[in-house]
Amino acid sequence: MCGIVGIIGRQPAAPVLLEGLARLEYRGYDSAGLAVLGRSGLRVHKAAGRVAHLAATVPKRFGGTVGIGHTRWATHGEPTDANAHPHVAGTVALAHNGIVENADALRAGLPAGTELRSETDTEVLAHLIASQEADDLEERVRRALLLVEGAYGIAVVDAAQPDRIVVARNGSPVLLAIGDREMLVASDAAAVVRHTDQVVHLDDGELAVVRADGYRTLTLAGEPTAKAPQTAAVSATALDLGGHAHHMHKEIHEQPEAVERALRGRVEARFATAHLGGLALTPRDVLALRRVKVIGCGSAYYAGLFGAGLVEALARIPADAETASELRYRNPIVEPDTLYVAVSQSGETIDTLAAVQEVQRKGGTVIGIVNTPGSTIARACGSGIFLHAGHEVSVTSTKTFTSTGVAFALLGLLLGRTRDLGPGDGRRLLDALTALPDAIRAVFAAEAEIAAAARTVAEAESAFFIGRVGGFVTALEGAQKLKEVSYVHAEAYPAAELKHGPLALVSPAIPTVAVVPDDELWEKNMGSLAEIRARRGPLVVVTDAPPAKDVGEARAVIRVPRTAPELAPLLLGIPLQLLAYHAAVHLGRDVDKPRNLAKSVTVE
Ligand code: G6P
Repeated sequence: MCGIVGIIGRQPAAPVLLEGLARLEYRGYDSAGLAVLGRSGLRVHKAAGRVAHLAATVPKRFGGTVGIGHTRWATHGEPTDANAHPHVAGTVALAHNGIVENADALRAGLPAGTELRSETDTEVLAHLIASQEADDLEERVRRALLLVEGAYGIAVVDAAQPDRIVVARNGSPVLLAIGDREMLVASDAAAVVRHTDQVVHLDDGELAVVRADGYRTLTLAGEPTAKAPQTAAVSATALDLGGHAHHMHKEIHEQPEAVERALRGRVEARFATAHLGGLALTPRDVLALRRVKVIGCGSAYYAGLFGAGLVEALARIPADAETASELRYRNPIVEPDTLYVAVSQSGETIDTLAAVQEVQRKGGTVIGIVNTPGSTIARACGSGIFLHAGHEVSVTSTKTFTSTGVAFALLGLLLGRTRDLGPGDGRRLLDALTALPDAIRAVFAAEAEIAAAARTVAEAESAFFIGRVGGFVTALEGAQKLKEVSYVHAEAYPAAELKHGPLALVSPAIPTVAVVPDDELWEKNMGSLAEIRARRGPLVVVTDAPPAKDVGEARAVIRVPRTAPELAPLLLGIPLQLLAYHAAVHLGRDVDKPRNLAKSVTVE
């Protein structure tokens, strides 16, 4: 949530900052700004709206080889030019991710006569830094931060000391990137990988003083720390569109390879189980488990619902999923024989992190299913399963949803095979997992048909998504996708619940997307479709039944290949991703950056 980038070196800073901000825009995109130190001192340019607007309005003369930039997702104060970052206090400019929780108290303590030009907590912090009495910028930043409560990732420049950028982290990621006689700083490797892949992740409570030829890290207490560079996990090509019109489309189409990567090295054919090297669970630990609890937010939570169902079915251990934001605040009962699984694409979602910390504080064991190595949640969990799905740029998660499902299948297989799942079932699932990439490719062959069906939902004011058991999870995620990218209101219901309320709304104006696996609930689902048809509700049916199996009258019937029943909810979800995508394109939406959303939500 919000993105920071900075550079100090030899090349003009502004173009690098603008390009970095465009790479970070998925983190927040309601306003943006730059601060550059040039011959004439500190120059700042800020604008409400997208980075492209900022770039188009940057004054011609904006030279200087040191600078910081920010793209914002508004928390304190509306997205206006004045509230955009960086914020300036005297010669100091500051870009900030996170929230200063005691901003009001700090504002009251600022020197008399301090004039604030924005409503933001960040401007208060800028003044707090500028008002500290110390010679070096790093010392002023350090002293100011000792007074701050809350989460932050910050980058600071000072026209009085133009040979350095000072950055600090507490709860919001910051990394340093080592270039050739230049250094960059950023909240995310995506902003810097075009320049270098050598990065240093700061820990919470750490500061860094960054100069063109090197860096120094220290704690908030002023003690030096030793940090070795690592190779960034993001490759520069992952950030390109690769011939697709949108990242969402590209990422949907990357799913076969993403699934292959999630499986690589993890199939243990000999024992028909999974090999998960990142898990620190002994067979005895697995035998002692009495419950599995999955936590996450948004699509990670829905993927967790799928995963909980799968783990319960395969391992016969009671399992459920809960949104992290609820769990963290309801004083959960944490039992020693429960395995907690935190799911997060970014590894930075603050509610998920706080839930992990709450469970750990009470002595619970948490593993992570995370896409981003080195992320805060991955590090907090210490063990788990990385998705290896590659960088996901579109705000809406697609490939990481599917890869998370695959990671849960491997986890369920491992837990199940350690307990009572027979080798025949293990083999059956492994075969289905290995065949999943091709099955997904086969779904893409029906894309034109799905795009045509998308008009039915795009042109409606509202849509229902229904399914049963695993199919209901698919419906939940399908409705979420449609809402996020097309802004068409959608609600998911367990199919049998229709008659307990929503059927009152079914009419020719409200289509229903039905997820209908070819399983033992087929007849029940046919009954639900009949109820909808009787109210003349338009139907889009997604099924893995063969063409010979009639679903009755429908606007569209989208067929996917058969897979193992455990994986059907994942495969049936692929057409729903495409449905949402094409509905959004049809409506001319900003597919990769839906309004009001951000990919990485690092504030509450
Ligand atoms: C945001 C995104 C969602 C995502 C959720 C959890 O709300 O817009 O797409 O599912 O955060 O993110 P995480 O990185 O923890 O998976």
